[in-house]
This record gives sequence, structure tokens and C-alpha cells, in this order.
Amino acid sequence: MRPLRSRIGVINARKLASVGTALRYDAALMNILGIETSCDETGVALYNTDRGLIAEALHSQVDLHAVYGGVVPEIASRDHIRCLLPLVRQVLNDAKVARPDAIAYTAGPGLVGALMVGGGMANGLGAAWDCPVIPVHHMEGHLLATMLEEDPPAFPFLALLVSGGHTMLIKVRGLGDYEIMGTTLDDAVGEAFDKSAKLLGLGYPGGPALAALAEQGDETAYQFPRPMLKRKGHDFSFSGLKTAVMLEVRKAEKAENLDENRANLAASFQRAAIDTLVIKAVKAAEQEDLERIVVAGGVGANRLLRSEISRRFAGTVHYPRMQFCTDNGAMIAIAGALRVADAASATEIKAQARWPLDTLCPPQSAQRA
Ligand code: KG4
Ligand code: ZN
Repeated sequence: MRPLRSRIGVINARKLASVGTALRYDAALMNILGIETSCDETGVALYNTDRGLIAEALHSQVDLHAVYGGVVPEIASRDHIRCLLPLVRQVLNDAKVARPDAIAYTAGPGLVGALMVGGGMANGLGAAWDCPVIPVHHMEGHLLATMLEEDPPAFPFLALLVSGGHTMLIKVRGLGDYEIMGTTLDDAVGEAFDKSAKLLGLGYPGGPALAALAEQGDETAYQFPRPMLKRKGHDFSFSGLKTAVMLEVRKAEKAENLDENRANLAASFQRAAIDTLVIKAVKAAEQEDLERIVVAGGVGANRLLRSEISRRFAGTVHYPRMQFCTDNGAMIAIAGALRVADAASATEIKAQARWPLDTLCPPQSAQRA
């Protein structure tokens, strides 16, 4: 078996008191195991409702898919099967917990085969340990990842959810009370980063590589469009920006000067994409009188996005730490902790490729209150 290149570690535990009033649990002290397998990362974590995050582990499949230039669903499922149980063992060992009190798993949206590996494992372990399982919405996990930080945001807030599959502005009134204000009409912003990176010959997934190259370039070298800024509403569109990059790359290839322009193209693309996100997010927050913006999802790791949104927004901006912007088990564990009331006995594996975020409801306990 190939050795697991995992990020394993015991996280500094912290007291619930430090998380303010934003987090309320429906149960007494609990250890929640979180399992994430929606795409190409196998993530496992243990969250304690008193002490916070205790342990977490992540195995990235990125090398397996890189040769194909994108995620291959069957390879993803098979690798989750290979890695998940060892990671669960490792996390429980690190946390010194024999068995958790509940198991949260990503039930969608995502690749169905990959989701079924996590759902199958969660339900199997739940049946064996006689503990409840909690199906979690992947994007709600991203949204709640900031709750793992020292100073979590209070409701309500505006969420800018930016990943490889989503670009959304969401008015978050409370847990499970989400109004989608805007979404992308075509490519997600992470997809635009990845496709532009591919055009520039930066490999897969190119978002972080493009962002690194952009730091050496001149962002004013090319005037790329800031799509949809003049339109009413809060929707996004990134396919035109990607096409504009493609045309400039072709021009540079023809002129045989792509090498000297690569960093400038990366910087100019990044500036156009980030300006668009920031201007639209700030406008939406101001329109709704929201004092807090939460940035979440893989593109939330982008340094320019973080500095620009903090610079241009008068209110407070919250982010998860860098490692919890991209897919991970910790965000699923904390989402499960907040949704213990929705736990079911281990009888049914839920795996949904599509699952609109605004169909979620508050936890069942809140609905009864
Ligand atoms: O949230 P995530 O891990 O997976 C999905 O649910 O999609 O997001 C992955 C996306 C990829 O498109 C990746 O290129 C992008 O996030 N990404 C970045 C950066 N780090 C990750 N994009 C721009 N700048 C970054 N630093
Ligand atoms: Zn994700």
C-alpha cells in the first residue's frame, strides 16, 4: 500500500467559552467524528463540544488526478476507500478517544461514488458503535468552518462561498436559514482560476500556483473584464474572463512571448477575478445592512482576496485558517456538532450529487423551540 501523505496532528484544544454566543449545542458534552469525502480530499476530524477541535487528518488525492488534468470520479472513490479507515483510526488515536458519541459525514453535494464511501463508513461505524450519524451539507460545512476560530462570527452575516464548484453570496440569518443572493451563471471562480492556470501551463489544480505566480507579475499589464459589475443583482459570471485569458495566451503564443508574460497574465487575471468578488460582496453586505462578511471555500485561501475584502469593507471580515478553507474533516465535524438534533440512527446512507443550500432548515431542535 502507498504510504499516506497526510496532515495529521493534535490541534490545540480550546474552551467553548472562547467561542462566544454564536455556538449552541443541543446535547451535553460530545465527541463528534467528522468525515469528508465529497471530492478529492479524504478528511477526518474529532471535535469536542467543550474543548473544540481535538485532532484532524487530511489526505489529498491531488497527485493521483493531476495526470488526468481533473478529478476522475472512480479513482477518487477507490482512494477514499483505501485511506478513510486508517485516517479514522489515526484521528481517534491522536484524540485518545475510543469511540465518538456521534459521526457526521458529508452527504452532498459532490461526487456520488465518493460521497457513498464516507456515508457507508459513517453508517457502518455508527451501527457498530451504536451511535447516531448526522448527514452534513458540504457547503454548510465550508460556511461554518470559521466557527472553528477563536473569534467566530455572530449571526446574521453575509457569506462569500468561493470554491471549485460554487461562487455564492448568501445572507445567513442563522444556522440553516440561508438566502442565496447571488450565484454564478456559468463557471465557479475556483474553476476560472484552475482553467486559466491550465492555459498558462501551471498544471492541476492551478489556483494556488496561479496565485503564487501572480505575486511576481504586473496586475495592470492586461485589462481583463470585471464581469457583471454593472448588472443589477448579485450574480457572477466567470466564463468571459477565462475566454479573455485564453485569447491573450494564444496571442502571446503566436508572438512567442508567453514565457515573459506568464506572470503578468496571472496577476491581471487574479486582480480582475478578485475585484469582481470583493466589489459584489461589499455591495451585497451594505445593501442588507450586514456588519460581518464570512469568506469560505478553497478560493478563500487567496491572499489578495483576504487583503482586498478587509480593505474595502467597513465591517468585520471572518475567514477560516488557511488549511480549513479547502475541503477538510474539521468543518464537517463542527457542522455535525451544531446539528446533533438532526442525527439519525445508522440505517440510511444519504448521498446527493446536487443539494441546493437554501433547501436546508434550522436544526430540528430550533424548529421545535
Ligand atoms: O473548497 P475546495 O477545496 O473544493 C471544492 O469544494 O471545490 O476549493 C478548491 C478550489 C480550487 O478551484 C482551487 O484552485 C481553489 O479552490 N484555490 C485557490 C487558492 N487555493 C485554492 N484559488 C485561488 N487562490 C488560492 N490561493
Ligand atoms: Zn469544498
